[in-house]
Amino acid sequence: MKTALVLNGPNLNLLGTREPAVYGSQTLADVKALCVQACASHNLALDFRQSNHEGELIDWIHEAGRAQAAGTLAGVVLNAGAYTHTSVALHDAIKGAGVTLIELHISNVHAREAFRHHSYISPAAKAVMAGFGVQGYALAISGLAGLAGL
Ligand code: DQA
Repeated sequence: MKTALVLNGPNLNLLGTREPAVYGSQTLADVKALCVQACASHNLALDFRQSNHEGELIDWIHEAGRAQAAGTLAGVVLNAGAYTHTSVALHDAIKGAGVTLIELHISNVHAREAFRHHSYISPAAKAVMAGFGVQGYALAISGLAGLAGL
């Protein structure tokens, strides 16, 4: 059984209480439960993580590249939070690791402030998903399974 790695960046630990009008009222634990279900229905194992630190996210993407090369990982779903709009280092990590990665946003970033319209992740990602609320995580896992031929 292959694994889907779901990575969450800065401030996503605050889901549930953080700007509920934008991100909804479900917590990160609720999102994890949703991902467990989505993975189970695609015969995937789930590895679900969150970090507020750019370097830790980079280390995890490198690890994912090694796991995908070894055949144990289907790919990554990444909600990089605000690092989406700032991090050349994450862009380089995704390209350098050569990992299949889906960029995910809970909100429709293109319907929000102009500073959220540019993503350093998109040019390095296989696919991009935004605006489906937390349900987007399940959709992205389904998409990842499809890309991995599962
Ligand atoms: C986000 C959108 C980003 O612009 C923001 O900084 C986040 C969350 C989303 O899931 O909609 O932290 O990635």
